[in-house]
Amino acid sequence: MTDSWIAVAAEDELAPGQMKRIQVAGKRLLVCNADGELYVVDEMCSHEDYSLFLGCIQDGRIKCSLHGSYFDLKTGIPKTEPADQPICTYRTRIEDGQLWVYS
Ligand code: FES
Repeated sequence: MTDSWIAVAAEDELAPGQMKRIQVAGKRLLVCNADGELYVVDEMCSHEDYSLFLGCIQDGRIKCSLHGSYFDLKTGIPKTEPADQPICTYRTRIEDGQLWVYS
């Protein structure tokens, strides 16, 4: 952990429903645009070691394409089985046209 803010994407880089893979402090994360709101979450599913980048964004949630669990992008909490552990979510802010993430 670096305990600092890092710019990870332009504010308008992603269209609704799009994701971007990033690496911050050695962690693989995803920037997600859910209906115009930007979120940063862990890239890997908490159920098995599988990339959520291969899933899709729907109604403020990200879906794992391997077994179909949905995770709330704001809280990281799984909303459907089989996943029963949350994914990490990260603090973000918009400044100077950039999305910043705190790690
Ligand atoms: S690996 Fe994501 S739900 Fe199973």
